[in-house]
Amino acid sequence: MNVKLMRRLRAAAGDYVPLAELGGDLNQVRRELDAWEAFGYVLERHPLLGVAYRAASRRLCPDEIEHELGTRWIGARIAVWDRVGSTNDLAARAAALSRSNAGLVVLAEEQTAGRGRRGRRWSSPPRTSILMSVVLDPPDPIDTVGFLTALGAVAVAEVVEAWTNQTARIKWPNDVRVDRQKVAGILVERSGATVLGIGLNVLTQNDQFPSELADSVTSLALLRDGRAPGQDRLPELDRSSIARALIQAIDAWYDRGLLQGPRVVHQAWSQRCEALGRLIRIRTLDGEIEGTLLAADLDEGPRLQLHDDRVLNCPVNQVIEFVY
Ligand code: BTN
Repeated sequence: MNVKLMRRLRAAAGDYVPLAELGGDLNQVRRELDAWEAFGYVLERHPLLGVAYRAASRRLCPDEIEHELGTRWIGARIAVWDRVGSTNDLAARAAALSRSNAGLVVLAEEQTAGRGRRGRRWSSPPRTSILMSVVLDPPDPIDTVGFLTALGAVAVAEVVEAWTNQTARIKWPNDVRVDRQKVAGILVERSGATVLGIGLNVLTQNDQFPSELADSVTSLALLRDGRAPGQDRLPELDRSSIARALIQAIDAWYDRGLLQGPRVVHQAWSQRCEALGRLIRIRTLDGEIEGTLLAADLDEGPRLQLHDDRVLNCPVNQVIEFVY
């Protein structure tokens, strides 16, 4: 499909665009418009004025995601599936087939066996979320679950902020939250191949979350509801554009990590950590420690200032959870 034509329509922000401005061959332009409408994009046609853009399709559009993506490491190939078990499994299988699959992005409209951390289920109604897995082949020293989890969380947080105009923070180790409500989770898995999995709630409504989670989860759509006047210039909430931005953000942080070393990503994660600067308790395998969180790093662990002013580095593999 002709993405340039669609971009031109979207740039007109709802105004009519004469068909002649969309191409020399008017029959070809009409066929293109038919194809976009058949895919689910909402257009309004007028016999004299031309065509106006009204809304994006509710389906993920691979052409829209890929067109002039401009990334270096991620997204040379993007596979969009309707229904899969888990995108992480598909990505891992592709990675096992060939190293040339590094950078592959797998997206799905629905997962029947989506996984969260610690064996939890990750389920979301079809066509409401970004369910994405990225195949990676990171060199040392960025080849760690901690680094890639931090990278995913920071990239997601940036995208959440761009689409909601609200501050996104991170709860140790992998939850992206706005006002303490979870909007996304990251699951890095390494079973031979390295896969970065992301689940981001986009269009989900309150009654679509399991009732026991209702108070602790949210979506981009819910975060935008009832926003203050003057904040309505946010980008349209269409999942293809969001997926595209997320791929670009992951690529940019991956590139920074490669060029400048893992610290740069860990620092960005630490600055977004909800508990930074707060008096917290860390539940560890050996009991609890209380102190002010000075910094946190998903490879090296959190650094606490204790009540007697001593500074303690808690090894990451000892940490169970932060309590605050
Ligand atoms: C968590 O918060 O526990 C992590 C959730 C990760 C969910 C994503 S959705 C895409 C990818 N495929 C999976 O099966 N899980 C991750």
